[in-house]
This record gives sequence, C-alpha cells and structure tokens, in this order.
Amino acid sequence: MLGSTLKILAGSSHPELAELISKKITRPIGELQTRRFANGETIVTVVDSVRDQDVFIIQTAAEPVNDLLMELLITINACKIASARQITVVLPCFPYARQDKKDRSRAPITAKLVANMLQTAGCNHVITMDLHASQIQGFFDIPVDKYGTITLQDYIQQHYEIDNVVIVSPDAGGAKRATYIADKLKVDFALIHKERQIANEVSRMILVGNVTGKTAIIIDDIADTCGTIALASKILTENGAQKCIALVVHAFLSGRAIDVIENSALDEIVVANTIPLSQRARECSKIRTMDVSAMLGEAIRRTHYGESISQLFL
Ligand SMILES: *[C@@H]1O[C@H](CO)[C@@H](O)[C@H](O)[C@H]1NC(C)=O
Repeated sequence: MLGSTLKILAGSSHPELAELISKKITRPIGELQTRRFANGETIVTVVDSVRDQDVFIIQTAAEPVNDLLMELLITINACKIASARQITVVLPCFPYARQDKKDRSRAPITAKLVANMLQTAGCNHVITMDLHASQIQGFFDIPVDKYGTITLQDYIQQHYEIDNVVIVSPDAGGAKRATYIADKLKVDFALIHKERQIANEVSRMILVGNVTGKTAIIIDDIADTCGTIALASKILTENGAQKCIALVVHAFLSGRAIDVIENSALDEIVVANTIPLSQRARECSKIRTMDVSAMLGEAIRRTHYGESISQLFL
C-alpha cells in the first residue's frame, strides 16, 4: 500500500520462516510480546506503533494449533484497534483447511469459521499457500491470494530429469493440482484411485496411468500420517517406477509418520517449510526441505507496492 510503511510482525509459530522472509525482503520483524496468564489466556503486546501502516502478520498452523490461532486473532485485533491502515495475514498453512465441507451429517465447516474469525478480528487480506480446497477462498469477503504450485514446478525442474518424470496424484481430490503441474511441465500424469472407508485409513488403491521406468513424483498438499503416500509409493514401485518421490506442501508428519516414511518405498520426500519440522524429521535421511520464503517475501513486497501477483499464482 503506497504511502504507508510496510511492517512485518510474526507470531510465535515459526520464527525460522519469519526470519527467512524478513531477510529476503530486507525488513526487520517488529517486536511482539506474547505472554500467558496462569489460566492459559494469551496476551499479545504490539511494542512499536502500527498507526497508518501496512501490517503483515506471519503465522502458520503449527502445534499447538488452537493457541497459535488465538494468538494470531489477538495480534490482528491489537493492530486493528491501534489504527493499522491495512492488515494482511500471511498464513502459509491455513488452520482447519481440511474441514472445508459438510461431507456427512452434522459435520462442521471449521475452515469457514476460521475465515469468519480472521475477518472479525480485523484482517483485510490473506496470503496463503496451497489451500486444501479452493472453495476456502470463497469463505472470505476479503481478498485471498494462494500461492504454491510455482515453487513445486521450479523444484521439479531444478532437481529431476524432466524427460523422465511422471506426476502422480495420490487421490482423486488432488488430481486438479497434479494435472495442473503436469501440464505446465509438459510431462505425463498418473492417478491413484483409492477407496477410503475411515479418515486416515486407506483400503484399496488402483493405479491409472503408466509409470514404468519413470521417476514418479507424487504431489500432495498435506502429509499427515503419510499412510497414503507410503501406499502410493508401494503401488508405483510395483508398477515399475524407477524412482519414487513425494512433493508435499504442508508436512504435519504426525504420529508414526517418520517411521512410515523410513520404511516406505519412497526414495525421498520433499516438504515445504510452511510448518517447522521436528528434530526427528530433520534427521530423517529421506526428508528434504523446499524453501518458500522467497516466494512469500515476494508476495508481501508486491502486495505492499500494489504490483501484480499473477506470476506467483496457481
Ligand atoms: C508403459 O511405458 C513403457 C515405457 O515407456 C512401455 O514400454 C510400455 O509398453 C507402456 N505400457 C503400457 C501398458 O502402455
């Protein structure tokens, strides 16, 4: 926003990413003091003035998700009532993105609730990465810019022999994302059809497409328990894939995920740094990270100066 100062603030979810973004755009991170009352309530103090400024608040859906979401809402609101001119939330991983539709009776649409809470707190603009479902954009009445696939495309081009790559979607839901990338890279595409009965538990998988002799790259937005990716890699290997890679945006890696990855047919899993990785994940030889700070920094810079962001878009 021209005529007002760009101010970067960062919640406590991912200091490392905030630091990287701040370095990329050569702006310091403004000071926030976050404390807890004895009963668990959070209090955030914005130390410097934000009056009439263009404020960007960086926070992500790390653990503990609920406390960090509340911390974000409090920070937004503190900036709003301190007369910030514009408040943009930079939310690399959107909390509750998986609760995006009423897919069974009495199911909550919590992603919509989060959208409402962000707006009520005083947020004017959201920058995020690879939303689980694009309808989440429609949950807001303010602009929501989602980035992501460009980083994946660049990573694939820089690290793999493109002529031998086949892009794989591990389920029907991710087919749109994976075909988009396959089309951009002008490579083949394959899909794994799965019959899921209970959440996080997969029953039967069928491969559609030819991966014989290829480097199969599974694309997904979230890696949680990694059961799906591990099974997909098994099927791809059984069907003659020469190498099996997974490219994932948000690495929750909960439960026994690291063991599952280590024991799987995956050669490597590349994860974006939208969520801080645990020490164990950092030490796992199959896990590599893909830095998204340059892209997020560029998104902040362009938003502030009112430049087009279409090149960074999905
Ligand atoms: C799959 O691709 C391989 C190598 O390109 C080829 O030899 C094979 O005939 C293909 N299989 C099918 C079923 O098309």
